[in-house]
Amino acid sequence: MTINEAAARTGAAPPVPPRPVKAGADDTVEVRMTVNGTPAVLQLPARVTLSDALRDHLGLTGTHVGCEHGVCGMCTVLVNGEAARACLLFAVQLDGADIVTVEGLGRPDDLHPLQEAFGRNHALQCGFCTPGFLMSSYDLLANKPEVTEEELPEELSGVICRCTGYRNILAAVGEAHRAHPEGIPAPGNCGRRALVGRSGQGGNASDGQEDNAGTTASLAKDIVLPSGDPTIAVEITTGIEVSEEKIWRVLDDVHLLARCLPGAELTDDLGDNHYAGRARVSVGPIKLAFHGLAHIVEHDRAAGRLRVLAQGQDSGGAQTQADITLRTEPTQTGTAMHADAKVYLTGRIAQFGRALAGDVSRRMFEQFADAVAEAAASGQAPSGPVKAPSAMSLVLAPLLDRIKQLLRVGKRRG
Ligand code: FES
Ligand code: FES
Repeated sequence: MTINEAAARTGAAPPVPPRPVKAGADDTVEVRMTVNGTPAVLQLPARVTLSDALRDHLGLTGTHVGCEHGVCGMCTVLVNGEAARACLLFAVQLDGADIVTVEGLGRPDDLHPLQEAFGRNHALQCGFCTPGFLMSSYDLLANKPEVTEEELPEELSGVICRCTGYRNILAAVGEAHRAHPEGIPAPGNCGRRALVGRSGQGGNASDGQEDNAGTTASLAKDIVLPSGDPTIAVEITTGIEVSEEKIWRVLDDVHLLARCLPGAELTDDLGDNHYAGRARVSVGPIKLAFHGLAHIVEHDRAAGRLRVLAQGQDSGGAQTQADITLRTEPTQTGTAMHADAKVYLTGRIAQFGRALAGDVSRRMFEQFADAVAEAAASGQAPSGPVKAPSAMSLVLAPLLDRIKQLLRVGKRRG
């Protein structure tokens, strides 16, 4: 048994290279770490544990907290490649450390083999212990591939499950082990992405740029879209009865443009075509408040093209990234505006499902197009805030569209 296996089981901190920290419990200390492949910089009181830093400051709530005494194993994460109790480590001890949480293990559409095996073997009931078991069993199979099936019960005894019973968990880990005797595949969801904490408290690290007050500024260089297919791809064309010239007066003015985005607000101009902002989306009981960044990577009025990369995260761990291209072309009655959006969702927002997320995105674009038309016609921002679509508006939208269509047909005939 390695020191780390023992540590994971007994709750003792693993041999993370210690960082001498001399600070009062409430003194704010800067910590830089890599979390699931993304450099992050945090400004934290010295008393904040790693589990609280991950959950409350980086929105990574997949790491669960049970006993906060190193006993239950719910908070197990990888620190520098080895399992550790996140409730027993202070974040300030971990400057420079590499952390992997359960969010880094697999993607919703491409789960890690251990996650697949847990699902197939019914190895979870309420799921509270599951992140701890997944990270603990990953550590075991990655660092001790020669472990035998007979040793699994003892090796995994450092995490406590209160409801499923251990047989299915052992069956799942055994199955993943047999499928990968040479060693379990590496975590599949680690890469640079948005990590936006509460204002001024967390965010991606800049490339050596000091920026304590507004960590969003350091995010600006870091909009990197995930490789692979987007969660949803939306292509919409809307006819606007306003000239293309007037539409571009709105698209040229980023503040006016932001006022046309449903539920969005521009909070900071970071320079070099980078902007910080907030956006709210609610569908039924799910309410999300995103903080994030947008980067206008292409603004070509002559070609009628505007391309924006955006990323955001809410405090509940939902993450979204998007690559949006707007194209305009003149028509006989005004302008056709085409939107081509590739949207990547992870965390709570992925619960929407592709169909619902597609409907929300489509509805938001329609509202955006209406607001752009209003702003272009009047030369001013839309009269009221453009609200994000609600569950009710999504249900009623097709009905309203149908009524509008019938009214238009009726008018033409009349
Ligand atoms: S061991 Fe950390 S919450 Fe129980
Ligand atoms: S599945 Fe409920 S605590 Fe383990």
